[in-house]
Amino acid sequence: MTIENIDKKFVLNTYARNYVNFVSGTNATLTDDKDNKYIDFTSGIGVVSVGHGNKIVAETIYKQVSNITHISNLYAIEPQALLAQKIVELSGYDMACFFGNSGAEANEGAIKIARKYGHEKFDDKKFKVVTLENSFHGRTITTVKASGQSAMHKDSFSPYPDGFSFDASIKDIYDSIDEKTVAVMIELVQGEGGVQPLDKKDVQDLASYLKKNDILLIVDEVQTGAYRTGEFLASNLYDITPDIITMAKGVGGGVPIGIVLTTKKDLLVPGDHGSTFGGNYLSSSTSLSVCNILQEIKENGSLDKTIEYFNSKMDSFYENNKNIFTQNVGLGLMKGLRVKDADTLSTIVSNGFDEGVLVLKAGQNTLRFLPPLTITNEEIDLGFKRLEDAVKNI
Ligand SMILES: Cc1ncc(COP(=O)(O)O)c(C=O)c1O
Repeated sequence: MTIENIDKKFVLNTYARNYVNFVSGTNATLTDDKDNKYIDFTSGIGVVSVGHGNKIVAETIYKQVSNITHISNLYAIEPQALLAQKIVELSGYDMACFFGNSGAEANEGAIKIARKYGHEKFDDKKFKVVTLENSFHGRTITTVKASGQSAMHKDSFSPYPDGFSFDASIKDIYDSIDEKTVAVMIELVQGEGGVQPLDKKDVQDLASYLKKNDILLIVDEVQTGAYRTGEFLASNLYDITPDIITMAKGVGGGVPIGIVLTTKKDLLVPGDHGSTFGGNYLSSSTSLSVCNILQEIKENGSLDKTIEYFNSKMDSFYENNKNIFTQNVGLGLMKGLRVKDADTLSTIVSNGFDEGVLVLKAGQNTLRFLPPLTITNEEIDLGFKRLEDAVKNI
């Protein structure tokens, strides 16, 4: 049987898959089983931040699993403590961390912290969480409900947890806050919703309004975190201090990890929250290695140069193809091009694949780029050359 047959027979049908079989990877270049090479402008949807086949990360993983892979959170885990220290230092915030395994799980943790805050702090419990209509926060029942995109709230999975409401824009949030609102949860650059950065001043105004009114600000940095927008956190770029931040994807470089950071360091007590795998030796030591690599390329200036180079190529690609693209959006290495219609978007992704460059969709009309943060100029050049070929007959 082919991989496709086995997959179709034994794996639940939840993804519209392309049945290419990638067998090796080096930085932003993937090779399939027929020896075709692809430039990866997706990094596994913003995950492989330090590239495929990273030798420093591989060495860290090998050393760690040759020794201890997992014990449990009932004992101290040295790399977990060191990772928490590193994340807090890089964030610049006075926070502490909880470790889970995914973005959705991190957001669940964030919502639990907010709900407990609403319970402990106020005589009459506050529990409502306001999010944005175009947001995406995950696939568990609660985070599906927290995601504002109405297409996510399928009847087939109902009933959903109470206490979530959605606003079209950040300026509308003020009106929907009531005496039961405990938190507002936002992505600073909406990823799945179309690579849409929120306005900095609007975010800062909202952050100070929430602080004055003792309502928590949760920033979902699952996609924007770990230098994706050029700073360690997009919250740093927006110059705000959220109460709770969630991370996942790129901070693990490919190992499953989810992190909740919060200023409410003493709120949760033993028994309130937990995870079997969260922050184990494997994921913590890998993430620590990834953070060290990313910190180094930020501090030696090479990340900023890569962002600049990628964006200059992206600008030219946009200018050359204004018959197809209507807007150039995003921040850092989280970028998007709005496409004139959904069919054309699908054609570009598929033609791109045929030409040997992987790109993503976001929403109905955005061509999305999330390359590894370590991508080389040569890989960037080749990727955009192939994309020009992919769009030339459109
Ligand atoms: C902003 C944001 N939050 C949460 C999630 C969910 O993360 P995960 O798929 O790791 O559960 C995603 C995934 O795309 C995301 O982009």
